[in-house]
Amino acid sequence: MMSSPFPRSILQVAPRVVLSLLLAACSRGPGGTGASDVRLPPAGPPGDPAIPARVAPVFPAGWRLPAGQPATFAPQVMAVSNSPEASAAATEIMRAGGNAVDAAVALGFALAVTWPEAGNIGGGGYSVVRLADGRVAAIDYREIAPLAATRDMYLDANGKLTDKSVYGHLASGVPGAVAGLSALLERYGTMPLSRVMQPAIRLAREGFVVDTALAGSIARARGMVTRFQRSTPYFPNGQPLAAGARLVQPDLARTLEAIAQYGAAGFYKGWVADSLVAEMRRGEGIITHEDLLRYTPVWRAPIRTNFREYTLLSMPPSSSGGVTTAESLNILEQYPALPAYGSTRWFHLVGSAYQRAFIDRNAKLADPAFVPVPLAQLTSKTYARQLQGTISETRATPTRELEPRMQALPREPEHTTHYSVVDAQGNAVATTTTLNNSWGSGVWVRGAGFMLNDEMDDFAAQPGTPNMFGLVQGEQNAIQPGKRMLSAMSPTIVLDRDNQVLLVVGAAGGPTIITGTSQVILNVIQHRMTLMDAMRAPRIHHQALPDSLTFEAGGIAPPVLDSLRSMGHAMRQLRALVNVNAIMRVKGGWEGVPEPRRSGGAVGY
Ligand code: DON
Repeated sequence: MMSSPFPRSILQVAPRVVLSLLLAACSRGPGGTGASDVRLPPAGPPGDPAIPARVAPVFPAGWRLPAGQPATFAPQVMAVSNSPEASAAATEIMRAGGNAVDAAVALGFALAVTWPEAGNIGGGGYSVVRLADGRVAAIDYREIAPLAATRDMYLDANGKLTDKSVYGHLASGVPGAVAGLSALLERYGTMPLSRVMQPAIRLAREGFVVDTALAGSIARARGMVTRFQRSTPYFPNGQPLAAGARLVQPDLARTLEAIAQYGAAGFYKGWVADSLVAEMRRGEGIITHEDLLRYTPVWRAPIRTNFREYTLLSMPPSSSGGVTTAESLNILEQYPALPAYGSTRWFHLVGSAYQRAFIDRNAKLADPAFVPVPLAQLTSKTYARQLQGTISETRATPTRELEPRMQALPREPEHTTHYSVVDAQGNAVATTTTLNNSWGSGVWVRGAGFMLNDEMDDFAAQPGTPNMFGLVQGEQNAIQPGKRMLSAMSPTIVLDRDNQVLLVVGAAGGPTIITGTSQVILNVIQHRMTLMDAMRAPRIHHQALPDSLTFEAGGIAPPVLDSLRSMGHAMRQLRALVNVNAIMRVKGGWEGVPEPRRSGGAVGY
């Protein structure tokens, strides 16, 4: 079942890189040991951490999410996700004696039922874990390109990029979610899969009431899902389920039962795999039984970096999340103190830091099994100092001066999902998972009842041409069989100066995941906001190309906006940026905040 962990090209890369690939390979596979269990110093003394007093922020007049609102508090455990039912699945498992890992896996499978646009078994994701005894780990269950994938598979006869990396059967990478969640549970959980999957199976079999958020999402997906299959549980006879209706998913319940009974093999072998491959054959899909059998999640050492006196643990490649977050925050750390939140200089410096980090992201990061990735350089403070030296105090630096290519505007990103879980012992799990686009490729697997991803679009389907998120990526992220497409997912755990979990955070939103997650971290650490204020604070985004500073409507005071424009920033307005779900340690327990711009549930006790 396990393919060789070494890329075909391993002999072509430099010896130093071979060494790092070997080290990474040592830690892969559910049964392996090694770099996944990187031990940090043990947690600090029990009790409340020395969290500095919070400071009330000032948001622009009329900003639609005013500061000063209370958050959900719980003394022992907390789970936050985009679905209240899925968060409740996590607390159900913890009440039954499970730890945060058991609960996170329960939540992940429940999301596949209750948040089908993004929670999934037909996609992939990443989890970062920090156990109360100091162990940390990261698991990569990103989709991979099928064996029959080719570099130019999304170009038409004229060399023009088609939309087949986004819609339809050809858009899917080989799903990793089931392999990843079950490996995570096996290594760090305490309960069997059959137990932690009970809430998900129950929700699929008995159904649950569709809320307005899900009803809206279903309505928006009508064209893309019914195009491939007229009748699904979300669209009985082609008609979208309305708010208040009950969503019952018997096929999905059977699939989940197969996984609960046989583990990952219940998905990658047997009738579920047969259904997936049959679905591929109905369209022009290329995922085969062999692809499914070869899928293996990879244990990795988390990116470990610090911002001021806090430690961040985040996701290494194949996600760009941890590296790009580290690089951005390292640049900002060069300033002894950041300017006041919301000032012209704040937006300028934070936006300029992201711009530089994204230039590296877009050009240098990719699946480390295929491409040498300069991790140490990109995350070093010395390099950050050099980059900070390129930031002018008075004007925006055009990306074309920093990296000479201009591109089209991105669409507003759609849809991934992040969840955060902590337990009473202080174990913490941050997971981000996705089908990529909302409702993935639009393809629902007949008989097995789940949506398939369109993750192939995260590759540079035509290097130099923007993808769905407007990201202009290079040759290093071109399609190769068996390769993981570069991600921006950034599940992150922040430890305080006593080495206790302070924040468990992550987001959905394509490249804005990185900027949104790191702004919540900055708001808490640097600006000492409460978690609720940190989440409600207006956000910005810069991804190098297109060369614009994106902001939320009403989130920047007009005079500040004028000043930023006069400095040369091309300001681009969106209604909302990023979908973050976070937990923060506070005196006596935890606060949980689901994304105030979206829907979700924080559940604890
Ligand atoms: O892995 C990635 O970076 C993208 N597939 C994430 C997509 C996403 O967040 C869409 N969501 N809102």
